[in-house]
Amino acid sequence: MQRREHRLIGVMSGTSLDGVDAVLVSIKTDAQQRVVKVSLVDQVSIAYTPQVRDLVNRLCIPGSSDINDLTLAHFGLSHWNAAAVNALLAKGPYAGSDIEAVCMHGQTVWHAPNPQIFPGPSGDLSVTGTLQIANPSLVASLTGLPVISDFRSADMAEGGQGAPLAPYIDYLLFGNKGHGVAVQNIGGIGNVTVLPGGDDASGVFAFDTGPGNMIMDAVVALGTNGRKLYDEGGSIGASGTICQSLLDALMEDPYFALVPPKSTGREVYGQTFVQELVKKAESLALCFADIVATATAFTAYSIAKAYQDFVIPHTALETVIVSGGGARNTYLLSLLRQYLPEGIVVTTSDAFGVPDQAREAMAFALMGHESLLGRPSNIPAVTGARKPVVLGTITMQHI
Ligand SMILES: Nc1ncnc2c1ncn2[C@@H]1O[C@H](COP(=O)(O)OP(=O)(O)O)[C@@H](O)[C@H]1O
Ligand SMILES: [Mg+2]
Repeated sequence: MQRREHRLIGVMSGTSLDGVDAVLVSIKTDAQQRVVKVSLVDQVSIAYTPQVRDLVNRLCIPGSSDINDLTLAHFGLSHWNAAAVNALLAKGPYAGSDIEAVCMHGQTVWHAPNPQIFPGPSGDLSVTGTLQIANPSLVASLTGLPVISDFRSADMAEGGQGAPLAPYIDYLLFGNKGHGVAVQNIGGIGNVTVLPGGDDASGVFAFDTGPGNMIMDAVVALGTNGRKLYDEGGSIGASGTICQSLLDALMEDPYFALVPPKSTGREVYGQTFVQELVKKAESLALCFADIVATATAFTAYSIAKAYQDFVIPHTALETVIVSGGGARNTYLLSLLRQYLPEGIVVTTSDAFGVPDQAREAMAFALMGHESLLGRPSNIPAVTGARKPVVLGTITMQHI
């Protein structure tokens, strides 16, 4: 059988605003160009400096966002994405000429999947939108490679939420296990891909479960005056006590009652949400560790509740595979085990050869591969789009 190997670089910068993850991915295809194997060759992560992180965070807050900063960040972040790609290539053994394309997600500054009114040429329109920044022409210039970017817009143009997009790769990497699997990403936001277990991808569904690390990170940064950006290993949370009444109040958040497909982001769980949480916690006289413990419990409980409401009724769920930076928070994982029904195994994607920082960037590399072949890679049942569409915009190599 004729097999081919394709190499692409996926680059992801998520809502945690922790930095840029670049992965070199090898995709093996058969004579019909079907994907038979996706493997990670190498990866590089570049952490944002506090200055860039603060700047991008400000861009994500209505009222504090400045149009000149936004425009400069669009180009400035291209250098961060290109630096990650070039660092990956510098490690060898592959050269730029071995790579088909850089598949760049960009940095989301605003995601508005729910329709809003916008004036149209003949009356009011109902419009959705999303904005990922980092300019692809500049990345193409800095890397010498073609760049595929703006992966979410085509799905939105077809009425979808533009998210989540990673389920496509989850099916290939973790599917067909003969039993129900939930692939739970815990980045800034939490999102799950549910793989019912058969060899048919049509039953796959996915949605954002709610906050991931975003609230915990903000609480830790506030409580340490920015000296710490996250709760390493979950040690602060583990030393505190969960405040049940605050947890109950947080769980009143209307997002959890929405039926999937649904997606959320920093627009909902950003600064304003955290300020209110801290205000409530202070009125209850909670100490720092208790607030972190409760914020961690909030993430774990919202994931478990999402499974109870929307997964377990349809799927014989046996395994939860956690990926994203939250997989390193052992306190969070222990709470998730505690809140889930007994018998469900909680493990991490590392155990399947997919490092927790790599999964999303790998997903964009695979989506870019599909786009180059003119094949759709959104799953309409997951995003709510009217139809499958080819994702992304191709920026040619600069010659
Ligand atoms: N050792 C660790 N212990 C606990 N949490 C961690 C650790 N490493 C990373 N994280 C968490 O993971 C986040 C980054 O996760 P990531 O998957 O990159 O999210 P995103 O895709 O939103 O950028 C950090 O902001 C932090 O909250
Ligand atoms: Mg990240």
